[in-house]
Amino acid sequence: MPRKNLAAADNANLDRAAREFPHPGSAPSDPRTPSAPNVDIAGRLRLFAEAFDSQLRRLLAPVGDAPASLVEAVNYTALAPGKRIRPYLVVRSCELCGGSRDRAWAPGAAIECIHAFSLIHDDLPAMDDDDMRRGRPTCHKKFGEAIAILSGDALAILPFELLGRHVPDSGRAARMMLELASSAGWTGMIGGQAVDVQGQSLPPSVELAGYIHERKTASLFAAACRIGAIAAGAADAMVERFGRFGRHLGRAFQIADDVLDIEGSSASLGKPVGKDADANKQSLPRCVGVAESRRLAVQEIRLATAELGEFGSAADDLRALSDFVVVRNY
Ligand code: IPE
Ligand code: IPE
Ligand code: MG
Ligand code: MG
Ligand code: MG
Repeated sequence: MPRKNLAAADNANLDRAAREFPHPGSAPSDPRTPSAPNVDIAGRLRLFAEAFDSQLRRLLAPVGDAPASLVEAVNYTALAPGKRIRPYLVVRSCELCGGSRDRAWAPGAAIECIHAFSLIHDDLPAMDDDDMRRGRPTCHKKFGEAIAILSGDALAILPFELLGRHVPDSGRAARMMLELASSAGWTGMIGGQAVDVQGQSLPPSVELAGYIHERKTASLFAAACRIGAIAAGAADAMVERFGRFGRHLGRAFQIADDVLDIEGSSASLGKPVGKDADANKQSLPRCVGVAESRRLAVQEIRLATAELGEFGSAADDLRALSDFVVVRNY
């Protein structure tokens, strides 16, 4: 399909998605949208998670002697049922850039470990103080705060070991480490988390919410896509393209997360809801309302999918994933 037509179709479908953005409680179990009519993305994600988790389980086995307490807590959180969207992005970006799936497992595991670390620390009493994550008691509820903090620390460091051990091309490994460090560190996710906490004592601000979303979530989505492209040995322009796709997708993802905190159910999300308003968080719907937040999320999705034009139907799953991000109920 010519790029122009594809973009026009995407626009029409996303306009409809924006109007019909379902109440999470009534979202269809198969969230296919007309943008990519032949892709059951929820089913694909489930299948992917099965394959990815067997790799992750293998890669989480410590090389050397690690205390059983840490191994148990790390496995408990990292292997708990999550959507695995970030490693999916690593693997599919790699494949679309001509790389084999085998090159993407360890980089995908690296990004999922960083994500799991961020979840453990995000839930701590000093941060969001949450009791449930991925449908289970949070890491600190299960193992105590000290082991939760330390298992988060372990999951923050392990990615660099995984890339060092399992990416055969040392130049690519070094580039991936740089991507991870800059997207997860104080210029990225950790920086966003710091402002997220500090912003609780400030009045709602769209600018602040945007700053937080960009860093705490979009930077890791962008890194997942960039790392996948790097794993395939893609040219710099392609790495940038995938980075832009991931960044827009990540912004939409966090807006949807903020909306789900208002309209979602803890049963389907596997985590508490209604916490952002209670904690005076800088969530976007608190600044501009739910309807405008949905519109902005769909706008980001439109910008994301505009980056995929040259891949034609090969990228239909990423188009479907983009739509899923804003219509999901989990
Ligand atoms: C939750 O991410 C944290 C946010 C950035 C909002 P996910 O919704 O991807 O969590 P899992 O991995 O599916 O549990
Ligand atoms: C956290 O954002 C993003 C992270 C970096 C973990 P939230 O605090 O909104 O994530 P949830 O809603 O607890 O998953
Ligand atoms: Mg938080
Ligand atoms: Mg939280
Ligand atoms: Mg949230």
